[in-house]
Amino acid sequence: MSRTLPVGLEDRAYDVIVGEGLLDVAGRLIAPFQTRGRTAVVSDETVWGLYGAQLTAALASAGIKALPVVVPPGEQTKSFEGLADVSDRLLALELDRGDLITAFGGGVVGDLAGFAAAIYKRGIDFVQIPTTLLAQVDSSVGGKTAIDTPRGKNLVGAFHQPKLVLADLTVLGTLDARQMRAGYAEVIKYGLLGDRGFFEWLEVNGADVLSREPDALATAVARSIEMKAEIVAEDEREQGRRALLNLGHTFAHALEAETGFGDALLHGEAVGCGMALAFRFSAAQGLLNGQDAGRATRAIAAAGLPTTLAEVPGRTFDAAGLVAHMGQDKKAEGGKLTFILARALGEAFVAKNVDAGAVRAFLVEEGARI
Ligand code: GLY
Repeated sequence: MSRTLPVGLEDRAYDVIVGEGLLDVAGRLIAPFQTRGRTAVVSDETVWGLYGAQLTAALASAGIKALPVVVPPGEQTKSFEGLADVSDRLLALELDRGDLITAFGGGVVGDLAGFAAAIYKRGIDFVQIPTTLLAQVDSSVGGKTAIDTPRGKNLVGAFHQPKLVLADLTVLGTLDARQMRAGYAEVIKYGLLGDRGFFEWLEVNGADVLSREPDALATAVARSIEMKAEIVAEDEREQGRRALLNLGHTFAHALEAETGFGDALLHGEAVGCGMALAFRFSAAQGLLNGQDAGRATRAIAAAGLPTTLAEVPGRTFDAAGLVAHMGQDKKAEGGKLTFILARALGEAFVAKNVDAGAVRAFLVEEGARI
């Protein structure tokens, strides 16, 4: 069974289809979005090795030839060099503006292929087939595409909405447990930022989601995408409410910058810790009661995600160093710090002009060096 969740963006509207076994019918679902019987499939070696033949066959059964553009796995591929390589290979395939790109992989592939699609011959259509939980519930929906530069993550990019997103729950079966937990951080984020009922459902059913019990997984992914779609439809360019999707991300980016944006701390793990810090900081500022901050922390910890600085492996942190990274965050305007804070479980808000000194003092309370 599958569910179709619309992203209501007028002339850029599209559907996200969530369900099991979608890869096998991908050809039929993608067919309306291409006219020339072919699609360039940007994927990474891991995903292509596991599922490339299956997707190729599914596309062929609908008369669509897959033209693979396979890149190395990992964040380093999301770079100017990676973009140049993918663009050159698309040109070599003589793709033109009437063709379609299929992004088939996790967040790295989606962001890279999406950005390549945004700028290739000034823009070409693309569809997303996200293969990680994080990509299904967050990065494949909403049209943010980007690459990293040595100065930071996602600093060069474009808004470019896909024509279709296929979130096949079956492919999550081969995702390792750590990547499931990292994606789950973004699932719990939706409950914490805007739906207390969903948060409470996750408190009870989170373990089933993580163990990929089919009904629980489908409910969690669909509700997450539904919330993302609703927020993106209201605020595509992040002028207001979309910023709530950055809950936990200001703390998370600082932790990731300190740990080198790599395997030591996955983005989702940093977001888990960042959300726990954001809830406790909200309580420390008198905005939220301590019980709710404790409940948020326990729900994140129950998923096996870090919730304290001490649980981030292999590092002790310096409060001033962390705050300095926050100052470089894309959300910092005029030197002020912007955070997503909470008034209650399921009630996050954008807090501008947060005092850096208060953040530093809070981080010292949390165990960071002065
Ligand atoms: N990942 C946050 C957003 O799409 O806005």
